[in-house]
Amino acid sequence: MRRRDFIRTGTVSGLVAGSGFAAGGGILAGSAGPLTAAPGRRSTNGAVRLNSNENPLGISPAAREAVLEALVLANRYPSDQHAEVVAKLAAAHEVAENQIVMGTGSAEVLQMVVQAYAAPRAKLVMADPTYEAVTNYQRTEAYELVKVPLTASYEHDLDRMREAAEGSGHPALVYLCNPNNPTATVTPSADIDAWIADAPEHVFFLSDEAYIEYVEDDRMWSSLPWIEKKRNLVVVRTFSKIYGMAGLRLGYGIAHPDTAARLADFASRNNVNQIALAAAGASFRDEELIGKSIAVNREAREMVEATLDELGLERMPTQANFLMHRISGDLATYRNRMAEAGFLVGRDFPPKLDWNRLSFGLPEDMGRFCDTLRDFRGKGWI
Ligand SMILES: Cc1ncc(COP(=O)(O)O)c(C=O)c1O
Repeated sequence: MRRRDFIRTGTVSGLVAGSGFAAGGGILAGSAGPLTAAPGRRSTNGAVRLNSNENPLGISPAAREAVLEALVLANRYPSDQHAEVVAKLAAAHEVAENQIVMGTGSAEVLQMVVQAYAAPRAKLVMADPTYEAVTNYQRTEAYELVKVPLTASYEHDLDRMREAAEGSGHPALVYLCNPNNPTATVTPSADIDAWIADAPEHVFFLSDEAYIEYVEDDRMWSSLPWIEKKRNLVVVRTFSKIYGMAGLRLGYGIAHPDTAARLADFASRNNVNQIALAAAGASFRDEELIGKSIAVNREAREMVEATLDELGLERMPTQANFLMHRISGDLATYRNRMAEAGFLVGRDFPPKLDWNRLSFGLPEDMGRFCDTLRDFRGKGWI
């Protein structure tokens, strides 16, 4: 049976529909048009998911098609397809194939870096607050963790981070999350470049650019050009955000070939699956999906920003698909009330415990969310 016939017989659609996967407006809910459907918009308890910085639009039409076709390869290890996607990423980033390391989500790449650069008396230097995965992964390693509070304008405090990383002369892993999660704020790349340019070899930079496609602030750009000159840097990207593939798990690091080889030793074998590879291959640099994702995100953001301003709730400037805003009162109570009103919102990000992180969903959902905020204000809850 040819691959396309396999799909047309309905065997695959039966398989997927039978799993309940389609019921939530998922992969086969094609009639509404893939970019206007809202796949997985609600959690199992029916609340709209505004809590995990996901892309509410879902994967691209080409990715859906490719995923269905790839199901026939489920019995095969994905080495050929892995190589094809690596080649595609390498060509697009104008690097060699041995400079790309893929992971099951960028989270696995972060883990590889934490493992690969652990050393006796090594420091792990990061902002506070920042994305917590790296903090979790270092628990089993030899690092001394140094958390440096963000500046008053929510940038990484590069001077203090540099002091912490370089002061002791011991190896240091520096995690730079730009834009930063959970604050969605950017740190000027000129300042980051100045540090990378001068940093000694024993300082290794882990540059996490998970949200770079959303950035409009021209003070931020990628650290990617450094990998041609420097071994002490990896740039990490993901298919989870702009490409809407958080549930498929594919991210990658780009580095000098020597660095990439060192990281690859820590990847789990055959880590990225056929389905994720198919979707990634079909959607990478899909201008329509990227453009639509950015436009929908901007519309949602502007609506939320206007409502927060109207209610006098302080907010941080955002360069991503989420923002942080202040609430008055207890965060857990606020979250519970929002859940009762039908919205899942952020989690605790100490030390910012009077701020909520809100991910942007579809504009229509954000409109209802904004009405709920006004209602909460009327009740004196925020
Ligand atoms: C800054 C940052 N890096 C990495 C990740 C991990 O993403 P994934 O493993 O889905 O690629 C996330 C997820 O939210 C994130 O916010």
